[in-house]
Amino acid sequence: MAETLLQSPQPLTAAVRIGEGRGDRMQIPPGALVVLVGPQGCGKSTFARRWFRDTEVVSSDECRRLVSDDASNQEVSREAFTVFYALLRARLTHGRVTVADATNLAPWSRQKLRQIALARGRPLVAVAFDAPLETCLERQSRRQRQVPVDVVEQSHHAFRQALAELPHEGYDRLYVVQPEAEDGS
Ligand SMILES: Nc1ncnc2c1ncn2[C@@H]1O[C@H](COP(=O)(O)OP(=O)(O)OP(=O)(O)O)[C@@H](O)[C@H]1O
Ligand SMILES: [Mg+2]
Repeated sequence: MAETLLQSPQPLTAAVRIGEGRGDRMQIPPGALVVLVGPQGCGKSTFARRWFRDTEVVSSDECRRLVSDDASNQEVSREAFTVFYALLRARLTHGRVTVADATNLAPWSRQKLRQIALARGRPLVAVAFDAPLETCLERQSRRQRQVPVDVVEQSHHAFRQALAELPHEGYDRLYVVQPEAEDGS
């Protein structure tokens, strides 16, 4: 396929699979940008809260909330992402570990994040959330902020493509997080 031919034949980064409860297995280099990748409801923000300090996590939905009092307000995307990228740049300029908590499903959005880190000489880590569509839908149906089912379906489809591309995008490390039973077994 044409898409396959555009990629280098060998992946640049081998994916390391971890369970959701094994975030302690990640090796995060000092000052790294950690790019989360996954559809709505897959568990990115929950995982980030568990394994990183609150100041390390920069969330696009939190930026929506900061500019409009509503974390799900899609009408303020421009201003929210201006704040999102400003926070990322500021932290990375000062060598602080920074987690980019957004879906990051579009190739251009990941490219932009890579450029921000590389311009400051910072390492790059990608963390992809390989949860089945049913898990994403079920999880997000139980939370307060609801995303339409068709949006989650489209995002999950985009995620399958992203998962194939991530090993070729040049991260220093690539983790693929898999859901575990909720009792942690
Ligand atoms: N390991 C888990 N076990 C059970 N429930 C989980 C787990 N991780 C997340 N959840 C639940 O799933 C829902 C979605 O999780 P979360 O908000 O972290 O997803 P998200 O990937 O950040 O979604 P979005 O892209 O919409 O922000 C939440 O209600 C959360 O409590
Ligand atoms: Mg989230």
